Amino acid sequence: MDTRPIRFLHRGQVVEVTPDRSTRSVLDWLREDVRCTGTKEGCAEGDCGACTVVVGALDGHGRLQLRSENACIRFLPQLDGKALYTVEDLSPPQGPLHPVQQALVDGHGSQCGFCTPGFVMTLWACQQHHAAAGTKPTRQQLADELSGNLCRCTGYRHILDAGERMFDLPAARFDRAAVTAALKELAQAPALAYSAPNPAASPAR
Ligand code: FES
Ligand code: FES
Repeated sequence: MDTRPIRFLHRGQVVEVTPDRSTRSVLDWLREDVRCTGTKEGCAEGDCGACTVVVGALDGHGRLQLRSENACIRFLPQLDGKALYTVEDLSPPQGPLHPVQQALVDGHGSQCGFCTPGFVMTLWACQQHHAAAGTKPTRQQLADELSGNLCRCTGYRHILDAGERMFDLPAARFDRAAVTAALKELAQAPALAYSAPNPAASPAR
C-alpha cells in the first residue's frame, strides 16, 4: 500500500511522522518521541483529562476550530492535516505566563502537575472558542467544559473562578489567520493512505 507521512502543525512547523503503527497515540508520540512531557498520562483510557491537548482543524466553511481532546485515545493518523497544541505552546519556559495560566495562579486554582496542564488546555480551548465568537461562557458552561478534567483532591471553585477571570486579562496573541492558511496548505496534500482507526473510537470531549 502506498503511504505518505502524516503531516500536521506542531510548535509552529509542519511535522512529518511515519509511525510504526497506525494506533500509536498522540500522547505516546508527544512524551516518548518529541519529549513534550508537559502533557501528562493519568488513566490512559480517556477518563481523567490529564493528557488534554488542543487540536485545530478547519470546519466546512474553512474556519479554524480548536477543540480539547484526550491525547491518550487520539491516534497519530487522526492528526493528519490538523494542528496540535500542548501546554508548552502557551508560554515560554521563562514566562510570562499565558493569561489562562495567570488566571489560575491569581485565583489559587493551580493544582498538581498531573491535572493542571489538562485544566489549562481545556480552558484555553474554551477561551479561544469564545474569543472568536465574541462571547463569554457562563459559569455552568465552564463547568461543562471542564467535566472531562478530573481531580478529586481539592475542588473546582478556584478553577471556575480562573475560567471567568481569564477573560478579564489582556489576551495573548494567537494568529488564527496564519494557522488557517497553514492548514489550507496542508489540505492540498494527497489523501492519506494509512488506514486510520475509526474516529468514533476516540470521542471528542
Ligand atoms: Fe486520562 Fe488521557 S490520560 S484521559
Ligand atoms: Fe491534581 Fe488532584 S489530580 S490536584
